[in-house]
Amino acid sequence: PVALAASLLLGYLCGSIPFGLLLTRAAGTSDLRTIGSGNIGATNVLRTGRKDLAAATLLLDAAKGAAAVLIGAALAPGGGVIAAAGAFLGHIFPVWLKFKGGKGVATFLGALFALHWPTGLIFCAIWLTVAGIWRYSSLSALIASLLSPLVLFGFGHGQDALILALMTALLWWKHRENISRLLAGAETRIGQKT
Ligand code: G3P
Repeated sequence: PVALAASLLLGYLCGSIPFGLLLTRAAGTSDLRTIGSGNIGATNVLRTGRKDLAAATLLLDAAKGAAAVLIGAALAPGGGVIAAAGAFLGHIFPVWLKFKGGKGVATFLGALFALHWPTGLIFCAIWLTVAGIWRYSSLSALIASLLSPLVLFGFGHGQDALILALMTALLWWKHRENISRLLAGAETRIGQKT
């Protein structure tokens, strides 16, 4: 139990690093939280016009999820998925930003890759397919995250799938404004500035 608690805490600390905000701040662009959706993730960094920073945000936010899983797995059996949940919570509720963080998509993906890379690849394939058709980052993430616990379950990782399903529920809740916009036909498409 101590090792699992340590996995959760270390995962949280990894996840709480707001790379999108740090990178755009270092580059001197306007505060991410005042533009576009106000979110601190890669999709909103793209709205600053800096594709390079958006790509770096995606990579680093995913990497912190993957790093958390590796640390957790090294600490305790079953620690990987606990650390994944910790990193996801850290990204969404970072203590450094008064618990107002992001929506967790990249961190979810990175953690998923480290937990079970084939499911990570399937997440990417779903995301890219949905994005290719409709060009909404949020819709792609909603569908990919909904299907990933089922895929993981199908591969026989029931326990990890259960935790992942809880993470998906939180991811959907964090996307509630995106869902309203999607339903109203008012969601911003990928690469569109506002
Ligand atoms: O990763 C978040 C994405 O699904 C939506 O981002 O900025 O359009 O709310 P955003």
